[in-house]
Amino acid sequence: MRGVRVNWVRSAETCGLFALAVLATATLTGSTPLLPVLLVAAVLTVTISVGVAVQTGSGALTQLAAGAGITASAWLAYVHHAGIWHAAALIMWALGALVYTVAGAIAYAKHLVVLDKAEAEHERARNTAELRRWTDMLAGVGIEGVTATRVVKTRVGHTITYTLPKDGTVKIQTLRDVAERLDISRELQPGSTEFGVGRHAGEVVMQSRERDVLKDAVPYPMDLSPLTINEPFDIGWSEDGSLCLILFREVRLIIIGETGAGKTNLLNVLIAQLSRCVDVIIFGIDIGKSGRLLAPWLRPWINKQTNRPVIDWPATDRAEAERVLASLINLVKARSRAFAGKNAKIEPTAGQPTYVVVIDEAADLFTTDETREYRDKYAEGQPTPRVLSWLATQIVNKGRSEAVDAIIGTQRSVASHVPSNIKSQCAYRIGLGTTTIGEAANLMPDSPIAQKIMAIMRHAGTGVVWRKDKRPHADKFYQLEDPEIIARIAEHVGDHIRPEPNEFDRAALGSDYASRWQRLAPLLAEWSDMADASQQGMFEQIVAQLPDPEAGMRTWQKRAREIVGKHGRVGVRPGVVLRQLDAENITVDRATLQRWLRTQANDGFMENTRHGMWRIKLHDGGQATGTDGR
Ligand SMILES: Nc1ncnc2c1ncn2[C@@H]1O[C@H](COP(=O)(O)OP(=O)(O)OP(=O)(O)O)[C@@H](O)[C@H]1O
Ligand SMILES: [Mg+2]
Repeated sequence: MRGVRVNWVRSAETCGLFALAVLATATLTGSTPLLPVLLVAAVLTVTISVGVAVQTGSGALTQLAAGAGITASAWLAYVHHAGIWHAAALIMWALGALVYTVAGAIAYAKHLVVLDKAEAEHERARNTAELRRWTDMLAGVGIEGVTATRVVKTRVGHTITYTLPKDGTVKIQTLRDVAERLDISRELQPGSTEFGVGRHAGEVVMQSRERDVLKDAVPYPMDLSPLTINEPFDIGWSEDGSLCLILFREVRLIIIGETGAGKTNLLNVLIAQLSRCVDVIIFGIDIGKSGRLLAPWLRPWINKQTNRPVIDWPATDRAEAERVLASLINLVKARSRAFAGKNAKIEPTAGQPTYVVVIDEAADLFTTDETREYRDKYAEGQPTPRVLSWLATQIVNKGRSEAVDAIIGTQRSVASHVPSNIKSQCAYRIGLGTTTIGEAANLMPDSPIAQKIMAIMRHAGTGVVWRKDKRPHADKFYQLEDPEIIARIAEHVGDHIRPEPNEFDRAALGSDYASRWQRLAPLLAEWSDMADASQQGMFEQIVAQLPDPEAGMRTWQKRAREIVGKHGRVGVRPGVVLRQLDAENITVDRATLQRWLRTQANDGFMENTRHGMWRIKLHDGGQATGTDGR
């Protein structure tokens, strides 16, 4: 019989145990009078039978339990007179156990079938009620004859399949017309109900969004495994619960959003994902906020906590930006000469990487709206917006096949903020929430759906990813702005993933590239945790005020303390201290150093940060507690 599960083993176990218990009772009660034994057996039989009846509700199982009790009592009475240890008694005992094993197994299997049926019935009733609820919901707004046939729960709400009446009185448009009324009657956000075509003209699929997934922040998932630019990577979640993926290779990306919409945050997410790519080298330009975007990505390298910087060439002023852009154009030209007639385009690899220039606050580079504020920013002899626009346009137009790409973030997409030649080359466009409908129309002119979605988004970090051939939807981008988290990513990728330009690329990028760190030394010093002289002075003062931490210290401990102190607020790993001591011919084993560091922490002289870094503990009352993110 299909669906019947006969569990012989279980039945044999239960009946076998019962039979053994009966046998033991018979042996133990051989000399006691029969009546009390039978009385106890009767009470047990009734109790067990009632228990089975209540537990299973099965008549057959209850009868079996009662039958087993009575049979056992009868056998006990028989052996009380006739004795146990002879063939007839033992055969009866064994036979009883066997019969009840078989009967029990079958009865239990049948009981399971009944249970399954009841469950299925219950499920059907529930489904019918659920379908009726969705059918009635449409009836509630005056749509009759449309029946719900399938309901699926999703991450954000429900997807319901409806069958339209065969006479054609209700069409999909009829339903679309009532979508807004459904939102109102169900107290949902505007635009939460959408109707789409099903498998045929008579079927409609309704998407009902009941939860605003765009509201909650989604932290950047700290998966730091290596990626490649040749495959899509995720930058957040789509509203329907799927990952928001972009395939960045060969595309330029423009990000538009008002102040506070989340541009810099999204650029951080993009830098994080690109920094995991083994075949991408990242340059960065951030003029407007003097490197607010770039500094956190470089700081761990400046502080010598990692081997390579995430941003291989940062620019925070117009002159440096010009050098970055001009060098990239040289690279594009050199690559196109070298590869002419060989490959149509470069396949990015770790040895032949893609270059991506990330630009925040692009309007500060390109704008030709010379307000007084902007004009003041141009120093004499610095490149003008026209020059920079021209350079960036060259890269965007010609870089594609040479694996030189750009990501551009700016507040508005009008031509005065970002050259229209650049915008038109951007196959990926991300409009962040709170952008005006006019701005949305300018950014994604041919996509009314995208414009509509943008118009209803209200939370920072939400946006629409637009690509010509893709249906746009609302997305929530990961949140990534905590400098400590950025530092963790930068440390990891700097030690394990970041590639370097090959010799050919270096030559093409030229002397401006080669000499960038010398030129940028003052900027790096400013971004470093230790370089600020006034900070350092204050820091030393505070150390001086501490209760003499060096009292009774050995030479290596004094030196270790100095090394930890040198690393300032960022702190240092024990391994680095060990290496430094070793370089100075001071030998200490790791366990001893770690024990000592812990003692120092217990005594309030040092502290261990969340990332396993050790630093000198500053005490309240000193002016320098809680240094800012610098
Ligand atoms: N994905 C996100 N999830 C949650 N909150 C976010 C997200 N993105 C941004 N925010 C919030 O919005 C604030 C502003 O973000 P951000 O600085 O990135 O905006 P912006 O567009 O660069 O602004 P500005 O034009 O001033 O530079 C952040 O401090 C954060 O609180
Ligand atoms: Mg910003």
